[in-house]
Parts: sequence; C-alpha cells; structure tokens
Amino acid sequence: MPVHVRAEPGDFAESVLLPGDPLRAEYIARTFFESPRLVTRERGMLGYTGSYRGRPVSVQATGMGCPSAAIVVEELVQLGARNLLRVGTCGGYHRELQLGDLVVATAAAPQDGTVSSLTRGVPYAPAAHFDVVHAAYHAAERSGRRTFMGPVVSSDLFYDPVEDPAGLWSRLGVLAVEMEAAAIFTIAAMRGARAGCLLTVSDTIGEEVVRISDEDLRAAVDNMVELALDTLHG
Ligand code: HPA
Repeated sequence: MPVHVRAEPGDFAESVLLPGDPLRAEYIARTFFESPRLVTRERGMLGYTGSYRGRPVSVQATGMGCPSAAIVVEELVQLGARNLLRVGTCGGYHRELQLGDLVVATAAAPQDGTVSSLTRGVPYAPAAHFDVVHAAYHAAERSGRRTFMGPVVSSDLFYDPVEDPAGLWSRLGVLAVEMEAAAIFTIAAMRGARAGCLLTVSDTIGEEVVRISDEDLRAAVDNMVELALDTLHG
C-alpha cells in the first residue's frame, strides 16, 4: 500500500479525474458518479471510485502544487491508474480568454522545482498525451463550450510578485497559468500512463487580476467535469 494514497490495487479505476481540491473530489464523486465509494482519506486527500455511464471511474485530489501532485500521481500509477485527467482552474494570460472559458492544455511549461528535479535540470517539454487531447477536443466540440487548446505554464507560485514578466508567457503563446499539470504530464510519461488537463479560467491576468464569481465558477466547473468524463468515457 502506498504511503500517501492509502488504498489497495483495485480500489482505483484505470481512469482517474484529478482536481486539486479534496472537497471538489468529494463533490464530483457525489454529483456525477453512480455508487461512489470513498477509497482513501489519508491527509484529507480524498479519493473516490464509482462509475459513470456504467463504466468504472475514480477521482482523487492532488493538493496544490507540483510536489503534491507528483506524489499522488506516482502512487496512483502504482495502484493501476492509466488515464489521468486533471480538472482544475487557471489564470488566463491570453488576451482573448474570458472568465469561465475552457482551456485544454496540450503542454505545460515547467516553471517549477519538481520537474527540474526529476529531469536533473535537462530541458524537457511536459506534454499531454495525444489520445487524451484528441478525446478532449472532440468532447469540447460536442459541448459547444468556448474552448482554447494550447500550452499552459505550471508555476510554483500562486502569489507571484511578477505575473507574466514583460508579457513573456503571452508572447510565447502560453494561454494560462496553473500549478500541477507539468508534474502530472512528466510522471505519467515516465510511468507509461496517459495524462491530460482541462482548466476553467478562474482569473484573467492583465493590467489587473479579475476573478470569477463563486456561482459562475461552480457552473463552469460542473460543465468541465461532464466534459472530462466524456473525454475519459466518450
Ligand atoms: N496562478 C496560478 N494558478 C492558478 C491561478 C493563478 O493565477 N488561478 C487559478 N489557478
């Protein structure tokens, strides 16, 4: 049994949704799964398994930041997970992004310590698995939601004293900032699993930071979770 995700092989489905927030994991399981069962609660990092349209699926909280996400993903793979789909929020850099838009991350620039520790500083481009990106693209197209596909940056900082310095990330075509995808993509690639990442824009970062209302965030995240389940099981 792994040290942190305390569960037995077979407790998790092969397909796992990965929100950062444990309470969002609980909400997803209770709202969208048939027959949800709590499979781990170690450190409050809740994990549930149930089914969606009759097929097994799990949800597991990663916590915030790449170090936490790296531990959780490594242990999920040890437990038999093969398809990992982060569902989270992001701060939008791209000028056209509006609050509540969906971002399908194709890659995650690793502005974090975890990936560079894993690669010993060797330049590396963490990427989502093509199968997951392909399925997410079609699920988003079917849903009609405003969707942007492209790279994001995974930062160690939420409170960054210098957001997007000199517009560098925007000029490089990076759509948005979040905090876990780079580690999830890297560990999945190292361990032969498939990973992807869907994000709802919860803030837009320009001259000033503008934040979505709680009500609009809930609706946008609900829609993203349905889309994520379609991506895994569509
Ligand atoms: N920065 C990093 N992660 C985030 C943000 C942000 O502004 N918004 C949502 N997740």
